[in-house]
Amino acid sequence: MDCFSRRQFLRSTSMAGASLAASSSWLARAAASAQDTPRQARVIIDPDRCISTLDRNIFGSFIEHLGRAVYEGIYDPASKFADQNGFRTDVLKEIKGLGVPIIRYPGGNFVSGYNWLDGVGPKKDRPRVLDRAWNATETNQFGINEYVTWCHAVGAEPLIGTNFGTGTPETTVALLEYCNVDKGTKWSELRRAHGFEKPHGIKYWCLGNEMDGPWQIGHIPATQYGIKARDAARQMREVDPSVKLIACGSSGPFMPTYLEWDQQTLEQCYEEVDAISLHRYFGNAEETGGDTARYLAMNLDMDRQIYEIMAVCDLVRGRIRSSKRLWLSFDEWNVWYRARSGNAVDGQRQVAPHLLEEIYNLEDALLVGGLLNTLIRRSDRVRVACLAQLVNVIAPIMTNQNGLFRQTIYHPYAWALQYARGKALDLAVTSPVYEITSPERPPFRTAGSISVPYLDVSGTIDVEDKTASLFILNRDLERARDLDLVWRETTPTRVKTCQVLTGSDLKAVNGFDAPDQVVPKPLDAPQVGSKMALKVPARSYVLVNLGLS
Ligand code: AHR
Repeated sequence: MDCFSRRQFLRSTSMAGASLAASSSWLARAAASAQDTPRQARVIIDPDRCISTLDRNIFGSFIEHLGRAVYEGIYDPASKFADQNGFRTDVLKEIKGLGVPIIRYPGGNFVSGYNWLDGVGPKKDRPRVLDRAWNATETNQFGINEYVTWCHAVGAEPLIGTNFGTGTPETTVALLEYCNVDKGTKWSELRRAHGFEKPHGIKYWCLGNEMDGPWQIGHIPATQYGIKARDAARQMREVDPSVKLIACGSSGPFMPTYLEWDQQTLEQCYEEVDAISLHRYFGNAEETGGDTARYLAMNLDMDRQIYEIMAVCDLVRGRIRSSKRLWLSFDEWNVWYRARSGNAVDGQRQVAPHLLEEIYNLEDALLVGGLLNTLIRRSDRVRVACLAQLVNVIAPIMTNQNGLFRQTIYHPYAWALQYARGKALDLAVTSPVYEITSPERPPFRTAGSISVPYLDVSGTIDVEDKTASLFILNRDLERARDLDLVWRETTPTRVKTCQVLTGSDLKAVNGFDAPDQVVPKPLDAPQVGSKMALKVPARSYVLVNLGLS
């Protein structure tokens, strides 16, 4: 079943859009400290108070065999930009320049019907097959070896999703042996025969994709999935004990089996895996009634989802008396609500059809900034996260045969990649709040008014480099907000850069004809000192990068 079916499934369970409603008590708690000082916003920055040493893999991304992500996106031998491998050099340069640390592949829904053997060996012998997830034709001209070669070229670590739909532990372990065993066995020798003498050494593996979803090829109940994951994981560790294994968690809070799936799965395979996955897509339609003030509060829903999945992991850990603490892999997240029905999700048996080509506007970019803030704040537990996806499919980078353009959401993502370094700061933020109303929709019972802080702030500090960065979302659609930056134990010596992403039109987009409609602009830097006054423009996402003494 494809994403159209996923959509129908959402409707049939009457739960689309209920997530923000569900978060009312969480939002109220998040806003509690903010209500103490309703007029003036302040952030206290103390370098000794840190959440984590930031795992840069929280700024990963995702490439699926879907639409024009692989073919025409990153691989296009017929393109004027193609190198000797058929990789698009303009796209490659862009991704390398971004510094994306880890890239998940090959799916997504696609992986649950994928036979990895179809994508290796001489290209002329590879079969054209029907991709049943997206009803497209898969030529298999790009497979695991091309992906690993491409990852090296862009400087990213591979993260492989395995087929738990039509696939078995046997096919999964064969793939691992093909990739990671040096030589002397059936599958490692096959890799060598294919021209890859050295093992790929792939560390991160997802055990299936969205197996809780009735739309997923090979969907099974949680307990069965957990047993299958346990079996595969045990065998995988025999092949390569160094792998990091990610169990497949709930597809999102909209699922009727949300949390129950995660608990039942982990009850079977907790000791065998290292992490569990989370997925989430946000939209400004049914979920919000088109109300931007509510939309921009949705990263707080992501905070809540992380807390809930953490709680389930720790519950199972307690019940089985395990000494191990799982981490979280938020390996699909983004805005996605326009291109998700009809022709946008039906490939009609074409090669590289135009699927999920969502065009992002300014308000989407602001929310993506907020979502990145959440990932930085929760980096004590989230160690991998993937912006879904990277090229042409719900993506920050769009291509045509003449080049590429950067979507609005590219910019907050690029800031995180460039400036969020070192440790995540445990900031004390106080902010004035605004009220939003949440609808009462089954099965969530909490409706009513919710207080949301206007200012959402995250920050990092790089002690070696003597720099700190603050990322500030101003959810106030009308007014600039004054924010005091109060420094403890250190004082900034200079503002290295201060930039803002904003505009008068929240619906403004970039395109091939107007690529710079929504781009960062310089913002007046605050005077350095132990207390700094920053004016944060209305409806904006702001970056402040400072040198420290
Ligand atoms: O990223 C698009 C799709 O969203 C993925 O294939 C699937 O895992 C999710 O439902």
